[in-house]
Amino acid sequence: MKKVNVAIDGPAGAGKSTVAKMAAEKLGFIYIDTGAMYRAVTWKALNNHVDPRDDQSLETLLKHTEIQLTQKNGSPRVICDGQDVTEQIRDPSVTRNVSFTASHRNIREDLVRRQQQLAAKGGTVMDGRDIGTAVLPDAEVKVFLTASVNERARRRYDEQVAKGIPTDIDELKQEIENRDKLDTEREVTPLKQAEDAVYLDSTKLSIEEVVKQIYQLAVKGADRS
Ligand code: CDP
Ligand code: CDP
Repeated sequence: MKKVNVAIDGPAGAGKSTVAKMAAEKLGFIYIDTGAMYRAVTWKALNNHVDPRDDQSLETLLKHTEIQLTQKNGSPRVICDGQDVTEQIRDPSVTRNVSFTASHRNIREDLVRRQQQLAAKGGTVMDGRDIGTAVLPDAEVKVFLTASVNERARRRYDEQVAKGIPTDIDELKQEIENRDKLDTEREVTPLKQAEDAVYLDSTKLSIEEVVKQIYQLAVKGADRS
C-alpha cells in the first residue's frame, strides 16, 4: 500500500488521538500527535516561568527546544530536551494554557515546519487542529472528526474517573468549550474543516467503527494516488 498521509482534525475529546493511533497501527504508518508538541512547549514555558501569552519569550524558548515523538512498548512517548514528559504535558495547568501558546503565529510557523518534516516521506497519521488546512494541505486523506460537546465532556470525565482523579463534569465541559472557542476563533489557522475533508460525527460511533472508516478512507486514498 502506498504511504499516503492521513490528516485528522477536530475539537478536544472527539477521539482524534485514540483513533489516529489505532488507524496508524493498522496501516503500518507513523502516528504524529501535533497537540503534544504545543503541550510540550507550554509545559517547558510554565516550568521556566515564561508566560504562554508572551509570544517573543516563547519564540526564544522554542528555538532552544527539542521535541521528539517516539514509541515505547507500543505507546507514544513525548520527549522534550531528552526528558520524557508524556504524563506532565497532560497536567491541567498545561491544558488551561496550551491554546495561548497555539495562538501565536511565530510559534505555529516553527512547529508546522517540524510537523511537515516528519511527514515528508508520507506514511503518517497526523492529528491536530490545522493539519488538513495548513500543515498538510496536500494530504491524500483528510478527516474532520467531531462529537457533541456533552459526549466529548463525558469521554474526558470517564478517562479521569478511570485514573482515579476526582472531576466535575460541568467544569470539564466548560474547559472544553473555552478551548474550542480559542481554537476556532484565533486569527492564525483556526480549527476549521478543510473543504476536501470527510466529516465524521463520532457521537454515536464506537472507537472501532471510527477506526474502520478511517482505515477504509486511507486504503481508497492510497489506491487513488
Ligand atoms: O487532546 P486534546 O484534544 O485535549 O488536545 P491536543 O490535541 O493535545 O491539543 C492541545 C491544544 O493544542 C489544542 O487545544 C490547540 O490549542 C493546540 N493545537 C493546535 O493549535 N494545533 C494543532 N495542530 C494541535 C493542537
Ligand atoms: O484526541 P482527542 O482530544 O480528540 O480525543 P482523545 O484524547 O482520543 O479522547 C477521546 C476519549 O473518548 C478516549 O478516552 C476514547 O477512549 C473515547 N472514545 C473515542 O475516542 N471515540 C469514540 N467513538 C468513543 C469513545
